[in-house]
Amino acid sequence: MATQDQEIKAVEAEHLLQVYRRIPVVFARGEGSYLFDTADRPYLDFVSGLGVASLGHANPDLAAALADQARTLVHTSNLYFHPLQGEVGRRLTALSGLPRAFFCNSGTEAVEGCLKFARRYWHTRGEPRTRFVALERSFHGRTLGSLSTTWEPGYRAPFEPLLDVTFVSPNDPAALAAACGPDVAAIIVEPIQGEGGIWPLTSPFADAVTDVCRTSGALLIADEIQCGLGRTGAPFHSATLGLHPDLMSLGKALGGGVPIGAILLSQRVADAISPGDHGTTYGGNLLACRAALVFLDAMAQGGLERVQQAGARLTAGLRALAERYPVISDIRGAGLMRGLEMPADAAAQLVDGAMSRGLLINRTAGAVVRMLPPLSVSDAEIDEALGILADALATLP
Ligand SMILES: Cc1ncc(COP(=O)(O)O)c(C=O)c1O
Repeated sequence: MATQDQEIKAVEAEHLLQVYRRIPVVFARGEGSYLFDTADRPYLDFVSGLGVASLGHANPDLAAALADQARTLVHTSNLYFHPLQGEVGRRLTALSGLPRAFFCNSGTEAVEGCLKFARRYWHTRGEPRTRFVALERSFHGRTLGSLSTTWEPGYRAPFEPLLDVTFVSPNDPAALAAACGPDVAAIIVEPIQGEGGIWPLTSPFADAVTDVCRTSGALLIADEIQCGLGRTGAPFHSATLGLHPDLMSLGKALGGGVPIGAILLSQRVADAISPGDHGTTYGGNLLACRAALVFLDAMAQGGLERVQQAGARLTAGLRALAERYPVISDIRGAGLMRGLEMPADAAAQLVDGAMSRGLLINRTAGAVVRMLPPLSVSDAEIDEALGILADALATLP
């Protein structure tokens, strides 16, 4: 197996664009909350493909539905009707209260569409609003529009000039109000900042966002790609915060691993958009929609309640660990989206120590250990993860 792994790495080193600093493990298969490497060693997966494998790996319902769909019809393009897209739209609009859906293939595409639709709204109204306001620590994606609203200067600098975006601190309502002049098309927020270090927006700041949208007229875009679709035990965390977005971007969990993104729109924004304003070849094809329906079925059939219970168990266990190990200075997040704050070197060692013991977690924003287990994770798996974390924490210097 070691030779097989070396060959896989050598082929990549020779032929792939080197944009990823990969962790040196090769995964060959998955089952539920576990991944197995090429030597068939199991790893409890609390990364879940960055919040994507929402139903766990090799989920039998998803596998059966995809096999059936692959035998029936995979793709037709958006030139024609098919039976599944409207149904996924019906379910998502019912869950969110936003009445219109548009399907794409990834998170960044969903954010791109939101930015375009916000611009289109103001263009239709004859008001030249083109600027966006985003938050410090935000991550909205890597294509040019979404990158413009992503805060990390190191990601943006080599690609400038980008869109005109003003970044404000998520703790500073006055700065938000000051930034939202009459040229602002939209404010974009993650209800829980994910890549930035698992920072939920505070209620006072969420209220300030609502106030500023009302007074300035700016639209609100909620990026629910990481924190939405059940991750917190609620359909969408923006609703938990009392936010009323005009546009919502979705991705990750929706396809359980099959690429699909979605944009949900208010009627006033949808009314500003005409046929031909936006489109995609693949978006919302039958295979992706079938996957989304399996995921949405699971959420409707007790999945959300299960995330609430599992999230409470994980949080209680993490709190107990924080009492024993003061290296953990903060526990943030909600439901099954959790971050442990600690010095960056300790975070790096904890991630390595957990992996050597068979638990996958990852580090984000330098000093935050992030957990995004499958939404189907069991109590026994949560306890196993907590046990491994305790062992790994005990060995930190
Ligand atoms: C909140 C948020 N928005 C957008 C994206 C970009 O999604 P994708 O990587 O599917 O393009 C991510 C990815 O991590 C995300 O967490």
